[in-house]
Amino acid sequence: VHWTAEERAAITSTWSKVNVEKDGQETLARLLVVYPWTQRYFSSFGNLSNATAINGNAKVKAHGKKVLTAVGSAIQHLDDVKHHLAALSKSHAQELHVDPENFKRLGEVLVIVLATKLGSAFTPQVQAAWEKFINVLVAALSHGYF
Ligand code: HEM
Repeated sequence: VHWTAEERAAITSTWSKVNVEKDGQETLARLLVVYPWTQRYFSSFGNLSNATAINGNAKVKAHGKKVLTAVGSAIQHLDDVKHHLAALSKSHAQELHVDPENFKRLGEVLVIVLATKLGSAFTPQVQAAWEKFINVLVAALSHGYF
C-alpha cells in the first residue's frame, strides 16, 4: 500500500485527537448496539441487554480502550500493518472465531465516531484517507483466516 504525505498527515493528525479510553468505549458500545449479533463474542462481559447497560459496562470500556490502542499502534506502522497485526489476526481467527465481516463493521463505526468528534475538520479528504486505512486494517486482520 502506498500512502501519500497527505494521507499520512490526515490519519496521524486525526489520531492525535483521539482519546483511546473514551472513543474506544464509544466505538465498541456502538458496535454492540448497532450490530447486536456481535454481542455473542462478549458473553463474558456481563450485562449487554440494552444501550444503557452497554454504555455503562466497565468491561466494554476496558476492551474498547484495548481495541483502539491496537488501532493506534497500527497507525504507527502504516507501511507494515499486515505484519504488525499478524498475531492479532491469528488470535481472532483461530481462538476467538470472530467472523471477519465484523471487522468492517467496527471500522465503519470507528469512522462515524471520528466524524462526530471532528465535525467540519472531518473533510472528504480526511474521510477518504480513513476509508483507505480501514480497508488496510480490515485486510490485515482478515489475513490470518487464510
Ligand atoms: C480481543 C483488537 C475487532 C472480538 C482483542 C484484543 C485486541 C483486539 C487488542 C485483546 C487481545 C489480547 O489481549 O491478547 C481488535 C481490533 C479490531 C478488533 C484492532 C478491529 C479494528 C473485533 C471484533 C470483534 C472482536 C469486530 C467481534 C465482533 C474480540 C474478542 C476478544 C478480542 C471476543 C477477547 C475479549 C476478551 O475476552 O477479553 N481484540 N479487535 N474484535 N476481540 Fe478484537
